Amino acid sequence: MKKIAPSLLAADFSKLGDEVIKISNSADWLHLDVMDGVFVPNISFGTDIIKSVRKNCHLFFDVHLMIIDPIRYIESFALSGANLITFHYESCKNHLEVIEKIKSFGKKVGISIKPNTPIEVLKPLLPYVDLVLVMSVEPGFGGQKFMMQALDKISSLRKTIDENKYDILIEVDGGINFETAVLAGASGVDVLVAGTSVFRAENSDDAIQKLRDYSEGRTGK
Ligand code: DX5
Ligand code: ZN
Repeated sequence: MKKIAPSLLAADFSKLGDEVIKISNSADWLHLDVMDGVFVPNISFGTDIIKSVRKNCHLFFDVHLMIIDPIRYIESFALSGANLITFHYESCKNHLEVIEKIKSFGKKVGISIKPNTPIEVLKPLLPYVDLVLVMSVEPGFGGQKFMMQALDKISSLRKTIDENKYDILIEVDGGINFETAVLAGASGVDVLVAGTSVFRAENSDDAIQKLRDYSEGRTGK
């Protein structure tokens, strides 16, 4: 079963509570994009928003940190209600230290790579993480076009993970719609993040179900 993780970034922030309730029954995870305006050219939200959203949402919180030197904020995000904390390979040098810190709070750990970062850099870290997030757009903004080069990365990661019997999920983030969900699903992804195509859909439950079906090859064709 593939998981669908709607990205809160595409929600209507003037009614966040309702937006989260709207997807709570059909989504598997909630994806929360934290941007610091330095690692990426945009600023989103931080721990206060995550804590508030946590109050009326039972979903698994998938926190995607797009911040420089993430070790500084691991404790506050862990305490804000995250279940999984993903940080960027490019955002620091002390990867193992960040991984250990996340684990010390009993949280799952993810590591992410931007479109121009090769997956090979992750090889030494794979034994220590629970998830690899492959960015299929330049991080920073929702609503961008899916970059096809992500598909090769996903298939090749899938191969490495299966060959080594690692217990790691592969997640893809950026530009996921019904078409790209089929491609990402076929390449071996486990979790699909979708902002625009879920929160801007006429019916979010239908969109989530269709994304799940399509990513699992049930396109009705
Ligand atoms: C981009 C974020 C994504 C974004 C996805 O930096 O990490 O999670 O919200 O949005 P869509 O699905 O609209 O491309
Ligand atoms: Zn994200």
